[in-house]
Amino acid sequence: MTASHDRLLIIDFGSQVTQLIARRLRELNVYCEIHPYQNVDDALLTAFDPKAVIFSGGPASVIDAGSPRPPKAVFDLGVPILGICYGQQVMMQMLGGKVERGHGTAEFGRAFVSARGSLPMLSGWFEDGDEQVWMSHGDHVSRIAPGFEVFGTSPNAPFAITADLTRKFYAVQFHPEVHHTPRGARLYENFVRIAGFSGDWTMGAYREQAIQAIRDQVGDKKVICGLSGGVDSSVAAVLIHEAIGDQLTCVFVDHGLLRKGEAEEVVTMFRDHYNMPLIHADEQELFLSALDGQSDPETKRKIIGKLFIDVFQKHAGAVGGAEFLAQGTLYPDVIESVSFSGGPSVTIKSHHNVGGLPEKMGLKLVEPLRELFKDEVRALGRELGLPAGFIGRHPFPGPGLAIRCPGEITREKLNILREADAVYIDQIRKHGLYDEIWQAYVAILPVRTVGVMGDGRTYDYACALRAVTSVDGMTADYYPFSHTFLGETATRIINEVQGINRVTYDITSKPPGTIEWE
Ligand code: XMP
Repeated sequence: MTASHDRLLIIDFGSQVTQLIARRLRELNVYCEIHPYQNVDDALLTAFDPKAVIFSGGPASVIDAGSPRPPKAVFDLGVPILGICYGQQVMMQMLGGKVERGHGTAEFGRAFVSARGSLPMLSGWFEDGDEQVWMSHGDHVSRIAPGFEVFGTSPNAPFAITADLTRKFYAVQFHPEVHHTPRGARLYENFVRIAGFSGDWTMGAYREQAIQAIRDQVGDKKVICGLSGGVDSSVAAVLIHEAIGDQLTCVFVDHGLLRKGEAEEVVTMFRDHYNMPLIHADEQELFLSALDGQSDPETKRKIIGKLFIDVFQKHAGAVGGAEFLAQGTLYPDVIESVSFSGGPSVTIKSHHNVGGLPEKMGLKLVEPLRELFKDEVRALGRELGLPAGFIGRHPFPGPGLAIRCPGEITREKLNILREADAVYIDQIRKHGLYDEIWQAYVAILPVRTVGVMGDGRTYDYACALRAVTSVDGMTADYYPFSHTFLGETATRIINEVQGINRVTYDITSKPPGTIEWE
């Protein structure tokens, strides 16, 4: 994307934590892009025109023949460069220093760096003595390059922090981007200040620029967008609608596996509030009859995935003449990964709900969120005026309630599940816990149990409550509700939901469990 704001280039040498560098910079309102070292050549440097460059860490050893290098021209751009871990070593090696292997100088984990002299780049550091940092290196710099001076040392890294003040090149052996370097963010702040960034990467600026880019890309053509009711596709749709108005048509597929009131909520919001052309594809019958009698989790998922594509295609085709498909793809999905085994490789994850569709339908993609992280999408949603309650919604899986209904899916069970889930979420909101929880839902279990209500015997379904905390859904802990909350919720569900007479709380973390039951 051509842009008027200041740009920082991160050259990725394959570190597991390169994305965190981008996070730290975005928090400072600095626009940056991560490019794998294989793709960075003189032409890219010229086209990108960075105001500063960061070399990431990486698993290779600069001592090995053929190990990754940035183009030499990067050192002649006249812009500040920060080398981190492998990035530090590659910088030293290329500028005339020396890197050696191990011999008892490897460091993995927490270390403490002591100051040697003072440096604007280290403003705010060493005020309370040594600084804790996170090290992860086998090789070490044994001789610094000409022009560099030492500003910090650790027991196993005599050149933990070095700098060439004339050229504004900075090199650190540790990882300032990780949580375990508590004051690492300060280094990035100092670096971008020294590099002269104005902090012009704001959501307001992004919104205007993205709208212009969508108009340039789409022209007067039609765009279709699969709306799931989730945050990403909703924000993408509102943004595109702002850019091109009624050239956008959204397709909302109701597979009969949505939560109570969900379809109405999405349709009302987008059709009535935002005035968007919206196709409400009521395909409950189709999905539920195809799922009839199926109890294997993978079979259920496959049926839903295939039908979803068919249905989407049918309705999108009815729009007539659409040339573009909008997707809410985010930045973590598109960052190209660096492969050290098979040469340059590009891994781009496809969106789970509409993967494969663009080629099949001959559509071009519009992905206005592909430069944003999840929390930035939420910020953009707020900027666009989406209701706060909508932006903060818990994630909801594409296959919907199907994967919260282990065993066979029946309409009766789905209705019971919807009611129980509504009571549970209401409880969580009433107790002010909704925003502390990553995801919460009820699963209806494929088992009936005996109970007693009033003077009568009951024989109804059991359900499980699930609530987890998580950062990214990859790992999760169960939420420690109080017994009072759990007791009150169980009583409400059993009293208010016909068909459930027993409530359990799932206390499994992930791993070994998953967040969903299927
Ligand atoms: P698991 O159950 O794998 O879920 O721990 C992790 C997160 O992913 C969501 N999830 C899905 N989302 N399509 C989606 O859009 C799916 O097929 C799907 N399966 C799981 C789940 O809700 C949780 O947030």
